[in-house]
Amino acid sequence: MSDGRINLPLLQPNNPLGRQAVTCEYRCGNACSHEAPNTSDNAYFGDVVRNIVSRRGMLKAGAVLAVAGAGVATVGAGSAAAHPGHGAGHQPKPKKTKGLDFTPVAPNTADQITAPEGYVSSVVIAWGDPVLPGAPKFDFDNQTAAAQAKQFGYNNDFCGLVPAGDDRWLMVSNHEYTTETFLFKGYNAASPTEEQVKIAWAAHGLSVVVVERECNTGKLVPKLNGHYNRRITVTSEFAVDGPAAGSDFLKTKADPTGTKILGTLNNCAGGVTPWGTILTGEENFNQYFANSASVTDPATKARLARYGLAGAASGRKWENFDERFDVSKEPNEVNRFGWIVEVDPHDPKSAPVKHTALGRFKHEGANVHVADNGHVVAYMGDDERFDYIYKFVSKNRVRPGNSRWAREQNKKLLSEGTLYVAQFTGDSPDFTGALPADGEFDGTGKWIKLAAGDESFVAGFTAEEVYVFTRLAADTVGATKMDRPEDVEPSPKSGRVYAALTNNTDRGKPGKEGPTEINPRNANKHGHVLEWEEDGGDNTALTFSWRLLLVCGDPASADTYFGGYDKTQVSPISCPDNLAFDRHGNLWISTDGNQLGSNDGLFATATEGPERGHLKQFLTVSTGAETCGPVVKDNFVLVSVQHPGELDGASADNPKAHWPDGGTAQPRPAVAVIWKPGHKIGE
Ligand code: FEO
Ligand code: CA
Ligand code: CA
Repeated sequence: MSDGRINLPLLQPNNPLGRQAVTCEYRCGNACSHEAPNTSDNAYFGDVVRNIVSRRGMLKAGAVLAVAGAGVATVGAGSAAAHPGHGAGHQPKPKKTKGLDFTPVAPNTADQITAPEGYVSSVVIAWGDPVLPGAPKFDFDNQTAAAQAKQFGYNNDFCGLVPAGDDRWLMVSNHEYTTETFLFKGYNAASPTEEQVKIAWAAHGLSVVVVERECNTGKLVPKLNGHYNRRITVTSEFAVDGPAAGSDFLKTKADPTGTKILGTLNNCAGGVTPWGTILTGEENFNQYFANSASVTDPATKARLARYGLAGAASGRKWENFDERFDVSKEPNEVNRFGWIVEVDPHDPKSAPVKHTALGRFKHEGANVHVADNGHVVAYMGDDERFDYIYKFVSKNRVRPGNSRWAREQNKKLLSEGTLYVAQFTGDSPDFTGALPADGEFDGTGKWIKLAAGDESFVAGFTAEEVYVFTRLAADTVGATKMDRPEDVEPSPKSGRVYAALTNNTDRGKPGKEGPTEINPRNANKHGHVLEWEEDGGDNTALTFSWRLLLVCGDPASADTYFGGYDKTQVSPISCPDNLAFDRHGNLWISTDGNQLGSNDGLFATATEGPERGHLKQFLTVSTGAETCGPVVKDNFVLVSVQHPGELDGASADNPKAHWPDGGTAQPRPAVAVIWKPGHKIGE
C-alpha cells in the first residue's frame, strides 16, 4: 500500500453499522425518528440566494460539472480549491506537511483500537474505575449509586486536558448518557428500580481526574488525587449567571431564585478555555423530561415543541423518583438545561456555572478563540436537523497571565456579551446540487445579532426570551438551517473556524429544505465539514467567507469532495462529529455512526498547502463504539471510546462485544491513549 492509498471499496454491505437503534434511543431520545423540531418558515437558503442575486443582478455563467438527481455533487479528482488550498500558484514549492506522517488505518470492524503501524494504545480510565479515593472496586453485578458517585461515569464523550504541570493534566470527561440495558442485567425499562435510577444519575455528569504521562513508557495514567479529582452528577449544585440568571422562566419550587440548579444532562462535546476552565454543552436534555404533552398553554407548548418535548413518560422514568423531571408538576425545570456549562477543574470546590448569555439550545459544545482585540469569541452548534450555528462575543477583554486574579476575571468573560446566529449565502446562484462552476462549495455569510446583555434585537422577544428560547428567536431572523451542527472549532493557529455537520437524512424530504450550496446533498447521510474565516481575520467581525473542506462519504462516490485533493488517495469518512487541532494546525476529525460499514474512527488532514484535503484515518475504535473527545498532543492522542458494544440485540444479558477487558467481559466506555514510543505523533 502506498502512503495514503486506500484500496476501495472497503465497504462491507452485509455488515452496515451506522448508528444502532439502541444508541439513538438512549443517547438522544430517538431525536432523528421524530419530526425535526424546526418547523419555522425561516427562509430557505435557496431563497436567500435568489433574493441576493436579484438584488445584485450577479448571476454567474457557466455550466456545472455534472448534475445528478437528488442533489448530488460531482467532483473530479484533483480539482483545485481556490482558497486556502493547493490550487495553482499557491504553493510553488510544496512542503511536506508536519504531523501527518503515518500509514492510514484501513476501515474495519475489529473489536479493538486499531492504530497505525508503530503505535500502541492503552486504556487511561474506564467506566467504574475509581475517581475519588475510597471508591470501591468496580463490580458490574453489584453496582450502587454511592459507588458510582466515586467512580468514572458512563459513556464519556468530550475529553479535555487542562495543564497542571510537566506531563501532568487535569482530564475532564463528559458522561453524556446511560444505556440502562447495558448497565443492568434484566433491566425492566417500564419500571426501573430507584437504585437503578440513582445509579444513572451518578453515572451522568463529568469526571475530573489527574493524569500523568510516564516518562519511561509514554503511557498516560490516572492518579487517585484527593484534592483535584472530582465527580459532578445529576445531583451536584450548579450556579447560573448571565442575563437570564434569576429569570422567571428558571424559577422552580425548589429554587425560587432561578439561580441554583441541580445537575447537568447529556453533556456532549466541549472545549478548554485559555484560562484553564472547560466548557461543556448540554445537548439532548429534552429526553429526560416527562409529560410535556399535558401542557395546554399555546406559547409554552410551542416552546416545548421547538426543543423536541412533546411526550408522555420519559424513556428512563426518572420522573417516578424526582418530580422535577415531570413537566406537568415542575414546568420550568426543563428550562434549566440546554446551556453551556463552565467548570474550573483547578478549583474543585467551585460550583460549575451555566452561562445564560450563550443561549439555550441543544448545545453540542463551545470552543473559544481570543480575537486579536482581546475579546473572547465562543463558537457553538445546535445539534439537530435544520438547526443553527451561533457565536458569542464577550463584552470584556481577556486578562493575560495565570494569576488567580486574572483567572477569576476571565471566568466572567462568558457572562456578558453579544449572541449571534449565522446566515450563510452561496456564491453560485445556479446551484443544482453538483459542484458549482466556480469549483467550490463556497460563499459569504453574516452574523445576525440576537441579544446583548439586557437588550434584545429580535422583534417580539424580550432579551430573557432570546436567551431561554434561543431557537425560536433565531427562527425569526433568517438563520441558515444546517445539517446537524456538531463541533464548531476555531483553529488556534489560523483563527479560521471549522464545523462538523454530521448528517441530515431529512434534507430534501417532502416539505423540507432541499440541497443548498452549504448543505449540498439531499438525504445527507455522511455529512460534511465547513470552514470559514471572519472578514479581516477578526473573529469578532460580523461577516465572513466560507467553503466546504470535505463532503464526506466513500471517495469513490461522485458526491464526495475532499478539498479538491485526489480522491484516490484519501480515507473514506462518514458522519464527522468532533474536531481538534494539533500544534501544526492540522485538523483531526472523529466520527459518530459510520454509514460505510466500518467502525468509527479518527482522521486527520492538513487545512492548507498541498496536503489540504488529504484525509488519512489515524485509528478505528472498537465495535459499536463512537469516537469522541479527541485530544492531539505532541506525544499522544486521546480518544473517548463511547458506547462500545452498543449493538442492536446486544445488552448486559447478551454482550456482543467486549472491549476493553476482552474475553466475555461486559464492554465499558473508556478514555484511550495512543502513542508511538520514542516519537511524536505523526512524526
Ligand atoms: Fe452528542 Fe451532537 O452528539
Ligand atoms: Ca461556489
Ligand atoms: Ca457529538
